[in-house]
Amino acid sequence: MIRKPEPMEETVQVKINGMTLAFNDRGTGLPIVFLHAFPLNRTMWAMQEDALSSQFRVITIDLRGHGESDAPLWHYSLDQAADDVHGLLDYLSIRQAVFVGLSMGGYILFAFHRKFADRVNGMVLADTRAQADTDEGKQARFEMAQIAYKRGARAIADIMIPKLLSPATIQMRPELVQYVRTMIEGNQVSGIAGDLMAMAERPDSIPLLRRITCPAQIIVGELDLPTPPSDATLMADRISNAHLVIIPGAAHLSNLEQPDLFNKTVGSFVANITR
Ligand code: MLT
Repeated sequence: MIRKPEPMEETVQVKINGMTLAFNDRGTGLPIVFLHAFPLNRTMWAMQEDALSSQFRVITIDLRGHGESDAPLWHYSLDQAADDVHGLLDYLSIRQAVFVGLSMGGYILFAFHRKFADRVNGMVLADTRAQADTDEGKQARFEMAQIAYKRGARAIADIMIPKLLSPATIQMRPELVQYVRTMIEGNQVSGIAGDLMAMAERPDSIPLLRRITCPAQIIVGELDLPTPPSDATLMADRISNAHLVIIPGAAHLSNLEQPDLFNKTVGSFVANITR
């Protein structure tokens, strides 16, 4: 059962890089910063926040373009998102943190590591990939942006839900499907299109993998189609200090479909870093 999102409960909004960003900051201990997927928001981490904030300081952010953060009709890039995260860490006086990035959150984590490696003391790369988009992939982003402009966030939810969740979840867990739909439909079209542009322009992160020396946990749902287990294996093979966990029965949003195993994996990983 998913906790009902209560967005205002512990929300703080702050101006970072000229942009209003919304975030939650819960618990004490080693900070874990969660970076959400496209086109969702920080409430995708509600179950991680509940499970892990008794042990750690859990920070979840609405990245620019999403949720309760600003979504200007302007140029977006993943480097800019990384700068926002960096600004928030400074605002919270957090020197180092463990980062969890799922899918687009993982792309932003690569961008963050390229710029601010000394702020990262561990990374969880979940249901993501190091490769840049192919030409066909970029074209598909452009077409999805056109759909967003013409038909709105609801049409994006119709397209994305079958990519994000397993067929069994879609059939048997209507409340989870609705939870994901509500996140997607709550976004402004400017943010959806902006992120599609940012993802299309992201660089290849494969050369970065060998330069990552902090502990890394790779997680992937066994049924993940957008970023399948082969992408996770590629990252695990090239990052020197990485471990891979494949989550049975989960697709792309493994943290929502199998929260217990996801939380256990992240919790043990972070607990080992604190030792
Ligand atoms: C995501 O879940 O963030 C997206 O599927 C990433 C992507 O479209 O590459």
